[in-house]
Amino acid sequence: MRIAPSVLAADPADLATAVRQCAAGGADLVHVDVMDGHFVPNLTFGIPMVAALKRHSPLPLDVHLMIERPERLLGAFLEAGADRVAVHWEAAVHLDRLLTQIRDGGAQAGVAVNPATPVALLEEVLATADFVLLMSVNPGFAGQRFLPASLAKARQLGAALAARGLQTEIEMDGGIDHGNVGEVIASGVDTVVAGAAVFATADPAAAIRRLRARIEETAR
Ligand code: DX5
Ligand code: ZN
Repeated sequence: MRIAPSVLAADPADLATAVRQCAAGGADLVHVDVMDGHFVPNLTFGIPMVAALKRHSPLPLDVHLMIERPERLLGAFLEAGADRVAVHWEAAVHLDRLLTQIRDGGAQAGVAVNPATPVALLEEVLATADFVLLMSVNPGFAGQRFLPASLAKARQLGAALAARGLQTEIEMDGGIDHGNVGEVIASGVDTVVAGAAVFATADPAAAIRRLRARIEETAR
């Protein structure tokens, strides 16, 4: 079970501290939310920021691309040091090609889906993806409320993967906190993203450790 704190919820002027806090709290990945102001109504980090985070972060970078026409910038994000890259199903015209490009670039390939996108639409790419990123909020902002219908989507996806004997992992992103992380894990999710639950606290490293404790309680 992996924890990927989202630095979108941290102080944007001090992300070097944020990535150190992720490592200090025992997180597994650093989740980086790239937004282009078109695919989602917000603008965040670009390629130089991913390269800078790569220099500062002891942990692998989990780069979530919320951008239109991801094929234009994918190569640059891979070169900047992304260890995992998720592209949105809704933004990708040639999804199979993009996933292959991510793997060929030496990173893990993920396909992200918005809350309104059914997981049944992923059938043809399940074997080409290393992970599916299920959005449990409408993407664009940290600190939104978890959409409970996401739990059924995770179960449905888990069943589809099991039926095919695939090891593709499930990541869930949006509105996850200490109160609901148990249910999230119980629905079959392997990697949880947490923004506000980590960085909207006085001690982000302690918040990560508390999330880990909740996850371990649930897994028992
Ligand atoms: C939303 C982003 C999420 C977000 C998570 O568009 O993709 O990664 O930052 O933050 P919380 O956990 O606060 O919803
Ligand atoms: Zn994200």
